[in-house]
Amino acid sequence: MKIQAPKGTYDLLPNQTILWRHIEAQIHQIFTEYGYDEVRTPMFEYTDLFQRGIGDTTDIVEKEMFTFSDRGERSLTLRPEGTASVVRAFIEHNLANQGSIAKLYYYGPMFRCEAPQAGRFRQFNQFGAEVLGSKDPRVDAEIISLAVNFYRRLGVTDLDVNLNSIGCTECRPLYRQKLIEHLRPKSEKLCPNCQRRLERNPLRLLDCKNESCRRLTEDVPLITTTLCPDCGEHFEKLCKILDSCDIKYKLNPRLVRGFDYYTKTVFEVLAGDLGSQNALCGGGRYDGLVEECGGKPTPGIGFAAGMERLMMVLEARSLTPAVEKRPHLYLAPLGDEQQVIVFSLCIKLREAGWIVETDLQGRSLKAQLKSADKSGTPLVGIVGEDELRNNQILIRKMNTSEQELISIENLAGYLEHFYEK
Ligand code: HAM
Repeated sequence: MKIQAPKGTYDLLPNQTILWRHIEAQIHQIFTEYGYDEVRTPMFEYTDLFQRGIGDTTDIVEKEMFTFSDRGERSLTLRPEGTASVVRAFIEHNLANQGSIAKLYYYGPMFRCEAPQAGRFRQFNQFGAEVLGSKDPRVDAEIISLAVNFYRRLGVTDLDVNLNSIGCTECRPLYRQKLIEHLRPKSEKLCPNCQRRLERNPLRLLDCKNESCRRLTEDVPLITTTLCPDCGEHFEKLCKILDSCDIKYKLNPRLVRGFDYYTKTVFEVLAGDLGSQNALCGGGRYDGLVEECGGKPTPGIGFAAGMERLMMVLEARSLTPAVEKRPHLYLAPLGDEQQVIVFSLCIKLREAGWIVETDLQGRSLKAQLKSADKSGTPLVGIVGEDELRNNQILIRKMNTSEQELISIENLAGYLEHFYEK
């Protein structure tokens, strides 16, 4: 029986890796420009980190983690997201002691055992940023504008930014109470998950994907009416800064996002053509998370973005880069001895920076010319018996079929001249 890739995973094939690498390059570019340093954390962590960080009544922790035991029976989990790990690393390595705020970014695979569908995988890749150590709403604005500008650079300009504030430990208890009181009379009609979460974590109900729960929560009181003065002022300042730097957003008072660590600002960037999994990225502030994970009280904010969904958008809109990977030269040896000479010539030229292809199957000249043509190279170098005897190579220009004999010694110079390097 053929073995297939596990459910919810995929192979990135050569025709997609060009675009993938283009996005990767843009990621490193933009984060460098905005002053972020890269961190790489392990792909698995002790399970408690996510239970404590993300919250044990969230979908991720309740249903979606890949959790297993090590040989010492300690529970480990493949990271479902990057924020908790970055915060753990920030505390573990005292990154706060190094003076100013920490601006960190990361990129890599995440794992969630969700039902796979278009744009939703069990192993997927995120890039994201976390800023630790500042309460200033300008940091919220920097994170949101960085995300939006990143998509703009790639040509995705028609985005929806949904924005909300979900308050803080001061004002959220009041809102929770209001929500519980509003929803309690309808509790029997809620899905079993929401019924269970209603008293413990009622904000989660606003994030339930179940259609009937969505309807039942349509007329809930809005969180924006209960924000304390500090949260209200923070949100107002953030909106003002975003207005000043041409970031359009929609206020969405129902946006709560699926993590318990958020405080104040939450946001999502949506692309209309993604169908139901339409969030390209999401993030928010988490002023209590560092403390929750055992560090000194430190405010934080960040976002993470899905690579696969971005790939889908770029492919659907044909926003793919024209990447030059045509060989500069295709070398065609005819005969055993010629193959050895050509082989070492290829290595030499490649070490000098030329993209060189050759035949590794001992095929006929006709077959080799066909491959050369397919590769898109403008030049083929043929080494037959006569050429070998005279230390020469027959250069053929593919567009005109013009041919000329040059000495092998002069090949690098010929290429430099041809490509004007
Ligand atoms: P998230 O909204 O769960 O947030 O994920 C961020 C992005 O990752 C989503 O908008 C989506 O593009 C992508 N994504 C999530 N799950 C999947 C999946 N199963 N398949 C494909 N793509 C997916 C976070 O992860 C937070 N850690 C963001 C954050 C950083 N908040 C503060 N700092």
